[in-house]
Amino acid sequence: MALESAFAARLVAWQKIHGRHGLPWQVSDPYRVWLSEIMLQQTQVATVLGYYARFLERFPDLPTLAAASADDVLAYWSGLGYYSRARNLHKAAQTVMAEFGGAFPSRREEIETLSGIGRSTAAAIAAFAFGQRETILDGNVKRVLARCFGVDGFPGDKKTEAHLWLLAERLLPADSRDIIAYTQGLMDLGATVCSRSRPACSVCPMLDACVAARDGRTAELPTRKPKKAVPARETVMLIALHDGKVLLQRRPPVGIWGGLLSLPEFESTLAIEDWLAANGEGDVLPAWPVLLHVFTHFRLTITPQCVPLQRLAANHCAEDNHVWLPLAQALDAGVPAPVRKLLLYALEGAPRHPS
Ligand code: ADE
Repeated sequence: MALESAFAARLVAWQKIHGRHGLPWQVSDPYRVWLSEIMLQQTQVATVLGYYARFLERFPDLPTLAAASADDVLAYWSGLGYYSRARNLHKAAQTVMAEFGGAFPSRREEIETLSGIGRSTAAAIAAFAFGQRETILDGNVKRVLARCFGVDGFPGDKKTEAHLWLLAERLLPADSRDIIAYTQGLMDLGATVCSRSRPACSVCPMLDACVAARDGRTAELPTRKPKKAVPARETVMLIALHDGKVLLQRRPPVGIWGGLLSLPEFESTLAIEDWLAANGEGDVLPAWPVLLHVFTHFRLTITPQCVPLQRLAANHCAEDNHVWLPLAQALDAGVPAPVRKLLLYALEGAPRHPS
């Protein structure tokens, strides 16, 4: 609680000396402030500077932007990415002309009704352009607050986010004359000191009161997005051997391992045994350890089934996506990683225990 009451004063004092000054959008023209906040949403300051200057040269004020064609606006956004930002900007300029008589609204609640402007961006514009005592809470600010005040929970969760908004509101400086330095200070601290990785804690004005620094938790706060459970899939891979060769199958062009040579797959070991029996082939060899392969979207458990083939070997190239290759050549053929492991087992012997 002690930090809560001292936070704003410390931040304002720090910003005045160590914060960023002289940026071209540190002005009171709401159009210029708004444009910068939209450009800076997903783009670094260094990249924005050039685009910002060129955009303002072509569209120096809001009426000029509102009257331009969408294509013209997009052309000046070209290279910045996230083009919905430009479309929303253009639409919002037309709304300001049509519904606010060309005067950019000064109240946060009104600013928030414009296309492409969320609660935090509206608050930043209200603070920077109109000196309003409004609260920002973007990703950087969430990080600063989660660390300083030891807030657990993924900030994207409704409950954690609501908690952070309330905290951020309590922290505002009492005097609205400090709101510009305070709001800029929050942004500056998040961008230059309290960075996501390797924060510069030794120069942080909050160091002595920061919960994360005290507890050695800067790397784990803010809490990361919980990982979704990855679905599990199973397959049985046939390692059919004959005369030092192995049977490979070309995978369909799309999907996992698209177009690669791989081992033939079956739904179950029973399916392999049925297939062998139907073709008058012998028994499978003792089981090899299963392999676990992790993809981004699922985990694949592979049960390998090694079978020496006699009769089938001669004619099983009938299907044109199958090929018999000497083991060493198969290893050079660019097969998927777990298949490579199984081919090495076939060449050198399988381990007795799962690996
Ligand atoms: N990122 C978002 N708004 C900013 C601002 N006003 N100055 C620097 N970086 C920012």
